[in-house]
Amino acid sequence: MPFNLNTPLDDSNLDAPATRHLLQALQANILKGHGRNHVVLLFLEITDVAKARHFMHHYKVTSAATQFQETRRFKDTGEPGGVVRLAFISHAGLVQFGKAAPFAPGGTPLDEFFVQGMAADTAALDRQTTDSWQSALKRPVHVLLLLAHDDLDDLSHMAFSEVQTLNAEASGFELLLAQEGRAYFNKAGAGIEHFGYVDGRSQPLMTTSDIAAEKGAKADFVYDPTAPLKQFMFDDPLAPGEGLASLFVFRKLEQDVASFKAAEEAIQGALTPPPSDDELAGAMVVGRFENGVPVTLQPPPPAAPVDNDFNYNADPDGARCPFQGHIRKTNPRGSSPGGEVFDKGVQMARRGITYGLRLQDPATAEFVDQPNDGVGLLFMSYQASIKDQFHFMQESWANNRKFPKFGPADPFVGIDPIIGQVLLSEEAEAATDHVWPSPAPHAQKNFSGFVHLKGGEYFYTPSPRGLKHL
Ligand code: HEM
Repeated sequence: MPFNLNTPLDDSNLDAPATRHLLQALQANILKGHGRNHVVLLFLEITDVAKARHFMHHYKVTSAATQFQETRRFKDTGEPGGVVRLAFISHAGLVQFGKAAPFAPGGTPLDEFFVQGMAADTAALDRQTTDSWQSALKRPVHVLLLLAHDDLDDLSHMAFSEVQTLNAEASGFELLLAQEGRAYFNKAGAGIEHFGYVDGRSQPLMTTSDIAAEKGAKADFVYDPTAPLKQFMFDDPLAPGEGLASLFVFRKLEQDVASFKAAEEAIQGALTPPPSDDELAGAMVVGRFENGVPVTLQPPPPAAPVDNDFNYNADPDGARCPFQGHIRKTNPRGSSPGGEVFDKGVQMARRGITYGLRLQDPATAEFVDQPNDGVGLLFMSYQASIKDQFHFMQESWANNRKFPKFGPADPFVGIDPIIGQVLLSEEAEAATDHVWPSPAPHAQKNFSGFVHLKGGEYFYTPSPRGLKHL
């Protein structure tokens, strides 16, 4: 049965043959996030191809079908879902397994960034070098396994036993790195990242249930997050007609919280007249207040539920949300020269989770410590094309000092203050790009350099069936 990828998935009846077929053809976590609060990522290098192939053939990944059935059971009985197991293979890994041919440029999918790997892409991602990468991630990562669970003890046991199996000679792998990840939440129960902001709120939605839940009782959307399945998946070259695959980006992004918070405060102190809201500067950097309220909206809506139905039509000059604001750079919502359909088509399914230990005030859930390192975001995203989505967003939007104002008379708006990378040759010039509303003349304009890449890779997410054909 062919897959229809031109629309979102109708998941109103999980037992309908076309729906069941599609859910069984896909790994979990793509259509919807797995929602578990703890993860362990195991980065592997192949040492013996035959043994590694045998291991992968028997590796039991969680399908989307299992994920959706567990969610239904949870709604019906309250029984929580179990462990989620996912598997990813880099292009270097496919070469080892002798399966790279269908992925060659000109084949399906055409994606030179996947083929070259992330270490070759540092001009866009990390100051043109891998010097800051941790040594384990400088080695060739062939396979990534991800385990996710809500129960940390259970997850630790499972990860321990997985590591023992992998360390045994029969696995055909060397374990390069075991990386933990854990979710943090604010007082209202929304997931937050280490700078303290609600994260993961805005997502392209690819199931009818998610779209209906987002729309609620509203007659229409201001910003419609509906996205077709083909934006995130394609017929699996290793199991054509039987499986669906996706391309996956992993980046370990370390956050210098102390320096970010100091810079945020410096801009806040320089705003004139002093704003009544003492979190305004940070909101302009991110595009949302810490509680998730979009800074472009006036009057601001109530903090909960966190609003995602907005665009920048009423803010054409960046007076409320500066053009450089992280969420305006990464999703201009129709205000870029490309227009709304184009802007939406670039969006990926973001499935990141924070890593590293923080202390939270038990009363307010606010972070009380301000580390310089050791904490950050395990950025993860699924997309059909790394070239046209993740890489395009990073290079042509986040790193582009002019985006989204390209006119010859338009001033530079600056790189994305959270993830933007500037070419070393333009560093001095770019330091004065960012414009904040009415800053005092001595105010530091530049706001960037608080997130550092510790390593990463581009991966193929095989279908459960494709894994057996490695
Ligand atoms: C440590 C690094 C990062 C931090 C702290 C961070 C933080 C945030 C926050 C707080 C939001 C607002 C919540 C939301 O709208 O979902 C957000 C949204 C977003 N981020 Fe990031 N982010 C990081 C890295 C990245 C990277 C590497 C990309 C892609 C290249 C990215 C792309 C996006 C996108 C597309 C949105 C949604 C924008 C929208 O639809 O309005 N982020 N991020």
